[in-house]
Amino acid sequence: MSSEAVAEIVVCRFEDLNDPDSREFHIGDGDWPFKGFVVRRGDEVYAYQNYCVHAGHPLNWQPNQFLTEDKSQIVCASHGAIYEIDSGVCISGPCPGKKLLPVAVLIRDGDVVVSGPTAQA
Ligand code: FES
Repeated sequence: MSSEAVAEIVVCRFEDLNDPDSREFHIGDGDWPFKGFVVRRGDEVYAYQNYCVHAGHPLNWQPNQFLTEDKSQIVCASHGAIYEIDSGVCISGPCPGKKLLPVAVLIRDGDVVVSGPTAQA
């Protein structure tokens, strides 16, 4: 089976995200869709695969909850890895220096649009 297919989806309206805020998404309708999340901060939006580079868990336990309590960083709910919002680099916790996989994201006509593979690798 090939996982080379790439698709583009609308995650949400940019204006529906608080500042800052995060929202999960998936691309593909198979058993193993590609899972990711977007983070809004100010006028910028970032997107990453929902895959913690420490032990490969999804970062969140609660729907759409990817940020620290003060919403200044991304946090993994499993063992507390802290990642920078704009770079995806782990700056604290069990995997310092490692990086979340970025996902292509843009704002088009007010929509937050991501593109990526339609299945997990
Ligand atoms: S799996 Fe994310 S910190 Fe361990």
